[in-house]
Amino acid sequence: MRKIRIAIVGVGNCASSLVQGINFYDGSSANGTRIGLMHRQVGGYRPSDIEIVAAFDIDRRKVGLDVSKAIFSPPNCTKVFCEKIKLTGAIVKMGCVLDGYAPHMRDQDPLRTFLPLEKESIREEIIAELKNSSAELMVNYLPVGSEQATRFYAGCALEAGLGFVNNIPVFIASDPTWSKRFADRNLPLIGDDIKAQMGATILHRAMVDLFRKRGVKLVRTYQLNTGGNTDFLNMLNRTRLASKKTSMQSVTGERLADENIHIGPSDYVPWQLDNKIAFIRVEGRLFGDVPMEIDVKLSVEDSPNSAGVAIDAIRCCKLALDRGIGGVLHSASAYFSKHPPVQMTDDEAYRCVEQFIRGERES
Ligand SMILES: NC(=O)c1ccc[n+]([C@@H]2O[C@H](COP(=O)([O-])OP(=O)(O)OC[C@H]3O[C@@H](n4cnc5c(N)ncnc54)[C@H](O)[C@@H]3O)[C@@H](O)[C@H]2O)c1
Repeated sequence: MRKIRIAIVGVGNCASSLVQGINFYDGSSANGTRIGLMHRQVGGYRPSDIEIVAAFDIDRRKVGLDVSKAIFSPPNCTKVFCEKIKLTGAIVKMGCVLDGYAPHMRDQDPLRTFLPLEKESIREEIIAELKNSSAELMVNYLPVGSEQATRFYAGCALEAGLGFVNNIPVFIASDPTWSKRFADRNLPLIGDDIKAQMGATILHRAMVDLFRKRGVKLVRTYQLNTGGNTDFLNMLNRTRLASKKTSMQSVTGERLADENIHIGPSDYVPWQLDNKIAFIRVEGRLFGDVPMEIDVKLSVEDSPNSAGVAIDAIRCCKLALDRGIGGVLHSASAYFSKHPPVQMTDDEAYRCVEQFIRGERES
């Protein structure tokens, strides 16, 4: 089977789980299990067909290392579920910092924050690295609030002729100007903001969907999230959350008044490390206008939760490349992302993405 050559931007916890997963699910090893996968194969591609051929970061403890080593460098703190990682041959290159590094991150414990190198790469070097590595698609894992940086790397991907999987809440697939740029170059695009495998978003959406199907009026809801990784530390700066807020409001489908919905990162609790805890409350009114409420607590390791979805999004993006399909992949975006250009119910998105994988629909 052919390989899927990817470039990673941001070698943080999510990238660590992805790279560990590629090794964990390597069919030739003793770990050839299917536990935790939505698809063992996507259009014939296995997780172990994904190869990391290029990577960019800004942290001095990661730049210069093979990706297989960089993923275990601080401040990464996610659970190690696969210790034996094959060398990738891809050395993490210095990127461009732009707004990837928030000012408040300077004042934190070095073991918990980013430590950027001073000398940045220039755009031409990044594009040359992408071309020389023969990368086919780029996977974006920058910190929340990296608006300029995401657009910068998406521009590099376009220029080097790569597909793009946008895992973060900055709008590329759901921005008509950007989606057109990818469509014009016939390059596939999936996004925006990855919807984790069994995360707070999918759970919250399922609860709201159940209300709708059972005729219960949704009155108000919240989702409070805590965690102790750099993602949560970064999000302490609330000015970085504008797009994130919009992306997360997609949970309810119907528009609730702002005062009746609160969804977002609520606090940074260092000892939680990469464990995320979500408290979800949904209040409604059922038969006879009688009130009811549900409280749920979800506790989950944050980064494997996103990698379990990224591993399918990447393979769908590759299928589109194989089939010569460019522009937004709508079914994959709706199923794998919180903020796709076209929202679908999760049932519909699931049906559509299965049809896409089987080659029964274009996007
Ligand atoms: N875990 C999930 O389930 C989930 C769900 C949805 C979205 N996300 C998003 O995925 C993204 C990645 O999450 P994470 O936990 O890996 O974050 P992280 O903080 O562990 O990693 C971010 C990485 O980006 C690097 N970086 C910062 N600025 C950079 C730049 N300009 N160029 C290159 N690299 C740069 C940092 O050094 C770090 O290695 C976040 O935006 C997060 O919100 C995660």
